[in-house]
Amino acid sequence: MNKQMSAASSNNRQDRLIAELSHLWIDRQDQLVIEKNIQALNARYNLYRKMAHEPGFEDIIKQMVGRLANSFPGLSDLQNKRILDIACGSNTSKLPASFFLSTLFGGRSVVPNQGYTALFEPWFCRILFELGAIPVGVDFGDLEQEVFIHYQVDLGKTGTLDFLPDHSFDAIQDSRLFGSPEFTAQFRNPADRLKVAREIARQEQRLLKIDGIIIHSDAAALFK
Ligand SMILES: C[S@@+](CC[C@H](N)C(=O)[O-])C[C@H]1O[C@@H](n2cnc3c(N)ncnc32)[C@H](O)[C@@H]1O
Repeated sequence: MNKQMSAASSNNRQDRLIAELSHLWIDRQDQLVIEKNIQALNARYNLYRKMAHEPGFEDIIKQMVGRLANSFPGLSDLQNKRILDIACGSNTSKLPASFFLSTLFGGRSVVPNQGYTALFEPWFCRILFELGAIPVGVDFGDLEQEVFIHYQVDLGKTGTLDFLPDHSFDAIQDSRLFGSPEFTAQFRNPADRLKVAREIARQEQRLLKIDGIIIHSDAAALFK
């Protein structure tokens, strides 16, 4: 493919992504907000370049934005909402050998490239920050340069989230901690992993406001 053709195909891909994501909201204003959000992520974090290089990356963004659409029918509802993302991803997070990714647009197995990954940078918190929410990310990877509130914690330690006050979040997510290479190396015994999941599910109930929303919780799903 020559340079012109490849630029045109990447523009098409970007337009398609924006069209798909904006249609998750009915209101025209919300559609414009999400379009601006994707462009802001691109300007700040080279979203499109990373997308072109990593299989599964586009689906991660679709999945995160899809979860927001499921939880917040209007994007203005997100203004100043305190949202906790447990194991939010980081700039040093590692790739699993493969994983299954399900989005509002379908599901597929992803076998990532080896080495550095942009897949598990803290995308959900970044998206929320650009949308005017107050995301709080916790992870033990590197989050130092991130603009949102973040804490470096080891989620494998009981009571590690105790410093966050009771009922202080409007919404919470935990996603893909338990299958991550870091976590499975730290806890080789499945019973120990389950113990951590139980503690995280307990913390989520403690931290959520009475009318708060669980956006997505792998921990809670383990105890259904
Ligand atoms: C696969 S990434 C998931 C990122 C994002 N939540 C998502 O769904 O795409 C798993 C994250 O869990 C973090 N993690 C693994 N074990 C942890 C631990 N014991 N304490 C804190 N973070 C941990 C890793 O640093 C990584 O950022």
